[in-house]
Amino acid sequence: MASTPRTAARGIFAEENAEARAEIIELLKKAYWMEIETVMSYITNSVNPDGVRAQEIIESLREDIQEELGHAQQFAARIKELYGVVPGSMDFTPEQSYLQPPEHQTDIVHVIKGVIEAETGAIEHYNQIVEATEEVDPVTNDMVIDILRDEEGHRRLFEGFLREYESEGLA
Ligand SMILES: [Fe+2]
Ligand SMILES: [Fe+2]
Repeated sequence: MASTPRTAARGIFAEENAEARAEIIELLKKAYWMEIETVMSYITNSVNPDGVRAQEIIESLREDIQEELGHAQQFAARIKELYGVVPGSMDFTPEQSYLQPPEHQTDIVHVIKGVIEAETGAIEHYNQIVEATEEVDPVTNDMVIDILRDEEGHRRLFEGFLREYESEGLA
C-alpha cells in the first residue's frame, strides 16, 4: 500500500511553521529582485563612466556583478527548496532610482553614492531575513549571513572610495 511520506516534526518544514515558511519565501523573493536589479545597475555603471578615475570603479563593479548574480541564484534556489516558486520577469518592479546614469558620465561620485545606497538597502533587508529565520530556519539563516558579509564588504569598499573624494573636496 502506498503511503505519503511523513512531514518533518521540527524545523522549517514542520506543519506548525507553515506560516513562517510562507513569510520567509516572500522575504527571499524581495531579496532575489534586489540582486537582479543590482546586477542590471552594476552592468550599466561598469560601462558608462568616463575618465581616468573611473577605471577603479569600473573594475570593482565588474567583479561585483558576478557576485551579485551568484547571490540571486542562491536566493532563487532557496525559494524552491522552501516549496516556493521563483517569480517571472513580469513581476519585477524597479526601485534603484539612485543608480540611474548621471547627467555627466564623469560623475563618479554619483555612482559611488548609488552603490553605497544599494548595498545599504541589501544590508537592511538581509538583516531582516536573518532575524526572521533565526529560530525557525537555520539553513536560510546561515546562507543569508554569508551573503550579508559580502554586501558589508562591498559597502565598506565603496565608502573608502567616497572618503577619497571627500578628502579632496570632490564629494
Ligand atoms: Fe548581493
Ligand atoms: Fe553587493
